Amino acid sequence: MSATAKKSAPMPDDIKAMKAGAPIVSLTAYTTPMAEMMDEHCDFVLVGDSVGMVLHGLPSTLGVTMEMMILHGQAVARGLSNAMLVVDMPFGSYEESPEQAFRNAARIMSETGSAAVKLEGGVTMAKTIAFLTSRGIPVMAHIGLTPQSINTLGGYKVQGRADQAAAVLADAKAVQEAGAFAVVLEKIPADLADDLTTELTIPTIGIGASVGCDGQILVVDDMLGLFTAFKPKFVKRYGQLGRGGAAAIAQYASEVRSRTFPAPEHTFAMDAPTPKGGK
Ligand code: KIV
Repeated sequence: MSATAKKSAPMPDDIKAMKAGAPIVSLTAYTTPMAEMMDEHCDFVLVGDSVGMVLHGLPSTLGVTMEMMILHGQAVARGLSNAMLVVDMPFGSYEESPEQAFRNAARIMSETGSAAVKLEGGVTMAKTIAFLTSRGIPVMAHIGLTPQSINTLGGYKVQGRADQAAAVLADAKAVQEAGAFAVVLEKIPADLADDLTTELTIPTIGIGASVGCDGQILVVDDMLGLFTAFKPKFVKRYGQLGRGGAAAIAQYASEVRSRTFPAPEHTFAMDAPTPKGGK
């Protein structure tokens, strides 16, 4: 999508059809203003469960709830008209059974208006993905490093190196076979990501994967420099908004303490007429 084009949001099948075309652009968002900022630039916007870490200060994504995903999903939906909305299924909302996954995915879609859900897992989630996609729920899969499984993966390690590559390939084929319309590849070697991109007929969306993927995604607070607790190697900071924000807050605090804010232009006289709009 060009930076200026105005058109209706793509559907999951449109994203699928972008395989091997112009790279698919996506970011995460959690609020309406951020969604508005990226709407004309992104093909899809993901309300990621990373919201737990970047906005709520949680130590991992494991504490994220359905209620959080729905609330942030609704906020982001209000800011989008060009980009497709995808909402993450949080930990514990889909792993138990395909039926549990359907109930929660349907709730996410009906309460947020998202066009699709994303869930983590390959071979082990294939049955669930097939169950959802055959019942009207488009699924974006997520394989490689799956942050909801950090306790079994032993942390945020690169996945698919050496003899692990075959397992990631099996995951990729399983989610495609099950009907996923796209797959996020997180933190895997670039060569493996390139092989998967060639091998699969659905688009690969890379994060810490390869420039050869069919698309890319980043956590918006990472790329804007708003989340600074740590920086994964795969993050490029396109801004330093956290630093700018901290400096602005420090200046405000200093001006309040020195009584230089509010200045006369920020206050109201008793006898002046109220301007139109009452502001
Ligand atoms: O939760 C998230 O933000 C994600 C992206 C990093 C792909 O899953």
